[in-house]
Amino acid sequence: MTRAEHDTVTPADKDATGEIAQPPGHVEVWRGNEHSPVEGAPDGVITLKDLEVYYGDFRAVTDVNVQFGSKEITALIGPSGCGKSTVLRCLNRMNDLVPGARVVGTVAYHGVDIYGPDVDVIEVRRRVGMVFQKPNPFPKSIYDNVAYGPRVTGMKVDSMDELVERALRGAALWDEVKDKLKQNAFGLSGGQQQRLCIARAIATSPEVILMDEPCSALDPIATAKIEDLMAELAKTYTIIIVTHNMQQAARVSQRTGFFTAEADEMGHRTGRLVEFDTTEHIFGNPSDERTEAYITGRFG
Ligand SMILES: Nc1ncnc2c1ncn2[C@@H]1O[C@H](COP(=O)(O)OP(=O)(O)OP(=O)(O)O)[C@@H](O)[C@H]1O
Ligand SMILES: [Mg+2]
Repeated sequence: MTRAEHDTVTPADKDATGEIAQPPGHVEVWRGNEHSPVEGAPDGVITLKDLEVYYGDFRAVTDVNVQFGSKEITALIGPSGCGKSTVLRCLNRMNDLVPGARVVGTVAYHGVDIYGPDVDVIEVRRRVGMVFQKPNPFPKSIYDNVAYGPRVTGMKVDSMDELVERALRGAALWDEVKDKLKQNAFGLSGGQQQRLCIARAIATSPEVILMDEPCSALDPIATAKIEDLMAELAKTYTIIIVTHNMQQAARVSQRTGFFTAEADEMGHRTGRLVEFDTTEHIFGNPSDERTEAYITGRFG
């Protein structure tokens, strides 16, 4: 496997079928569990191979090899600055938007390198949606927030009203907003705004939803609602969540990846994926002593 190096911004075209195009012979393709470091991992949706991310000259994270399973919740945990958000942003090319960010290695979505030169970034982000730490609705109506993605991606939609209702129901928000769809989204509570952002993410029918600390700005009741919602969403979607809340990781996820950053002899700190396994294993009987130290609260 030769390592591919990618500049941050690679404008690309969609192929005639609207699929993410893969240039023939350009990237190595692999499927299933053949290369998985994870014993018993289900069919991989996203596979990271020798992933490394730089900000300018600074290597933020290295040596990440992992396969994310379909229709399950994977939690990424670890102390602040170990590269969780950096890795998450690689999964739908959000790092393209970060000045100086450079991704090395391979991020494969169903075997297709999403950093390949002919890949349509908009299509990647339609298939791999994202929900951020701070609810970030657009300054638009509730309805227009949900309809935004389908409109800008040119999705063929029979009835936008039905699509908006379906997405809001899917995000467990419909009953609370059905009578005020034309009102500005900023009028919603924080928890409702976050569920609106989830509705906006699922409106484009993604396969994967990335969540970066989606509950850290929410109160316990709103958090519980999002956690219940995640369990429901995982029947349909693959969810990868970054969380600082270990109880949350233990409650909601089937698999957990523990990252940490260690300084080398030059004092450069680089994040690494220390352990990736079932959540039960990580929290019950971790293989690495660094994982154990973290989950028992001895560092981080
Ligand atoms: N835009 C950026 N420019 C330069 N360095 C960055 C940038 N974003 C992150 N970093 C650095 O990369 C490393 C990993 O950061 P990252 O935000 O991925 O960590 P994290 O695990 O998500 O931390 P936290 O738990 O605090 O959110 C850190 O050293 C951070 O300072
Ligand atoms: Mg982060």
